[in-house]
Amino acid sequence: MILITGSTGKVGQQVISALQAAKTPFTALARSDASARELTARGVRGVRGDLSDPASMRQALRGVTRLFLLSSGVDPHAAEAPVIGVAREAGVQRIVKLSALGSHADATNSFLRGHARAERLLEDSGLEWTSVRPTFFMQNWLVYNAPAIRAGQPVYSNTGQSRLAWIDTRDIADVVAVALTADEHVGRILDLTGPEALSYTQVAERIGKGLHRTVQHVPVSDRAAYTAMAAGMPAAYAFALTTLNQAVRRGIAETTTDTVELVTGRPARTMDAFLSEHLGEFHG
Ligand SMILES: NC(=O)c1ccc[n+]([C@@H]2O[C@H](COP(=O)([O-])OP(=O)(O)OC[C@H]3O[C@@H](n4cnc5c(N)ncnc54)[C@H](OP(=O)(O)O)[C@@H]3O)[C@@H](O)[C@H]2O)c1
Repeated sequence: MILITGSTGKVGQQVISALQAAKTPFTALARSDASARELTARGVRGVRGDLSDPASMRQALRGVTRLFLLSSGVDPHAAEAPVIGVAREAGVQRIVKLSALGSHADATNSFLRGHARAERLLEDSGLEWTSVRPTFFMQNWLVYNAPAIRAGQPVYSNTGQSRLAWIDTRDIADVVAVALTADEHVGRILDLTGPEALSYTQVAERIGKGLHRTVQHVPVSDRAAYTAMAAGMPAAYAFALTTLNQAVRRGIAETTTDTVELVTGRPARTMDAFLSEHLGEFHG
């Protein structure tokens, strides 16, 4: 049996859709009543568990042979290492891990460093593994920037004019579904991007074109970005996001790959297709 973690989030929800479309049986982890209800509403069998509670994971992993592992904190290694250990003991045979493009054991950024360290642990675990390393999600625009755009405000970032090869989470999910069910990607790191690298300014301009009004991106300093983010989230998370954008300015997200097409047999979705599908969510 397959178990999906992160099942109510941006990637996990799409992994569920991809497995449902392929009629592949699976269960999904729910850490709260609200998440369990959300899964039930989608016709998914939820299994209760919390990644930070090894006893609950031991229970959740009973009978599981393949695991999609996604964590969402500032240090993926701290979150995932205990789960990898419990999974091995529980008899899981394969883990498909959600990582991030540009992950590196010596990275200054905690997301990138933590993902690389968790990948290394997985490689050394003796389990079958695949690491799926996407670049930045197109869906971030819906979650983080659409509220400002709807309110007629600019989008601020400390990415400067650097370009990012944004990817649709549905493409990540389609790759994850293949990695969970087929054997040819075992032992591989899959670098996933969309087909075009665009700066925040360029994406904002495209949204503005669709809305027939100006949507502005204002590049800000690291300090301004950190201060603004730290006002609304834990300081460690704000620092990690700020330093991630420093890495963007060093060019970690600007190269495109054809890996989505190599794995799924069809090209990655474009930003233009994504924006035209979701334009209504940017309307004030
Ligand atoms: N955003 C990007 O552009 C980007 C790019 C590359 C890589 N990534 C990586 O993607 C991952 C985040 O994926 P996402 O954006 O899909 O996540 P997300 O939307 O933030 O959702 C997080 C999911 O994980 C679940 N979760 C969080 N903590 C948990 C815990 N302790 N136990 C059980 N479940 C827990 C949440 O469940 P609840 O419903 O209970 O909250 C939710 O389903 C991170 O590892 C990040 O580094 C992100």
